[in-house]
Amino acid sequence: MPESLNIRPANRLHGTLLLPGDKSISHRYAMLGAVAEGTSVIDGFAASADCQSTLDCLRALGVDIKRKGNQVTIAGHGLKGLAAPHDSLDAGNSGSTMRMLAGLLAGQAFTSRLAGDASLSRRPMKRIIDPLTAMGARISSESGGLPPLTIEGQALTAIQYVPPVASAQVKTAVLFAGLLAAGETTVIEPVETRNHTEIALEQMGANIRRKGKTISVRGGVPLEPISARVPADISSAAFFLAAAFMLPGSEISLNGLGLNPTRTAMLDLLEGMGARLERVNQRLDHGEPAGDLRASYRLLEGGEIPEEAIPNLIDELPVLSVLGTQMKRGLRFHGAQELRVKESDRLRAVAENLKRLGAEVEEFPDGLSVPGRQRLHHAEIESYGDHRIAMAFAVAGLAAEGGATIHGSDCVAISFPGFFEELESAAVRE
Ligand code: S3P
Repeated sequence: MPESLNIRPANRLHGTLLLPGDKSISHRYAMLGAVAEGTSVIDGFAASADCQSTLDCLRALGVDIKRKGNQVTIAGHGLKGLAAPHDSLDAGNSGSTMRMLAGLLAGQAFTSRLAGDASLSRRPMKRIIDPLTAMGARISSESGGLPPLTIEGQALTAIQYVPPVASAQVKTAVLFAGLLAAGETTVIEPVETRNHTEIALEQMGANIRRKGKTISVRGGVPLEPISARVPADISSAAFFLAAAFMLPGSEISLNGLGLNPTRTAMLDLLEGMGARLERVNQRLDHGEPAGDLRASYRLLEGGEIPEEAIPNLIDELPVLSVLGTQMKRGLRFHGAQELRVKESDRLRAVAENLKRLGAEVEEFPDGLSVPGRQRLHHAEIESYGDHRIAMAFAVAGLAAEGGATIHGSDCVAISFPGFFEELESAAVRE
């Protein structure tokens, strides 16, 4: 039974937040660790259910994985050393698990089947089927490009690929298959997307070259294991940052946060709208930029988000739209049609829930327009089983008269199991 939770209004946010490890980086370290030569030890591994789905799939592929809290130890099997699974692999709610793992499965010497939950079963997979098929893999979808997928592993050959959508998952699937392919595989991105795969591959001794939006990897080069700490997830931090800029007097610190420039588009956007964000203790952790971030409330200007910024803000757009209701000029964006094929149709989910809160909002096929300085009132919020919708509207509840009731609140565990407790610990009510 999905749970419901009441969020009470708060005056401000205060304190140092404890965030889970980055989901994107955790998936990649786990998958690459599984095909490295030797044992990888990953600290600060994401607490998210999605990353647990990745670990479960890897275990079903014969990989020995030990988990002690947030430390994960993975005994690598070598590039083509995964074992045929006995059953269908369950990617749960995780698009990253299904799409990226497909790249590694495409070049193994066995057939596997990848399935997921109801939400994942509605998400497009043609975007990985096409390039992996071009590399020689045999992949069939049971219904028009949707999961489940059956992957007959083959000897792969390198390709040069220009993905038609800006997607780090697609880039990663092709580069992962490239590790197993004969020759040098190249991906030329239309827009630069998160580059955690490239950084991890460099750290693990792959033969990889990067020049602007062109990334090439040579197949057949064994990977060294990695022992690294995963920085805190900036996409989880986004909810607290948004809350801090909605509630006057807020002051928060986020420590050990991933600050990879391909992930900080929200910080850049907020700064451009008047926020002052202090970044301290900046460092590199196995090639990944990290540091501490301090934010205190200021009324933000708002305005139009430039279309070229959208791909790198994609996961933050639901909560940014909520924040837009409290900006001076509101928020407007186009070019975000990808939001319609995430864990839910996020444009629809945000528009519906904002309306329930009494806000004005205009929905476009590829974006939203949210006027600023709006009063929100209590509403029954529908999460649509989507973690980022549940969290974005919990933040809205803090600023709404009478708060909000979030139905289907348990889905936050997909990326952030302790989210509500953390939000409550920082909420100040006077
Ligand atoms: C991710 C890439 C993005 C993002 C998702 C995680 C990744 O998806 O929305 O939450 O880890 O590579 P797309 O590749 O579909 O844009």
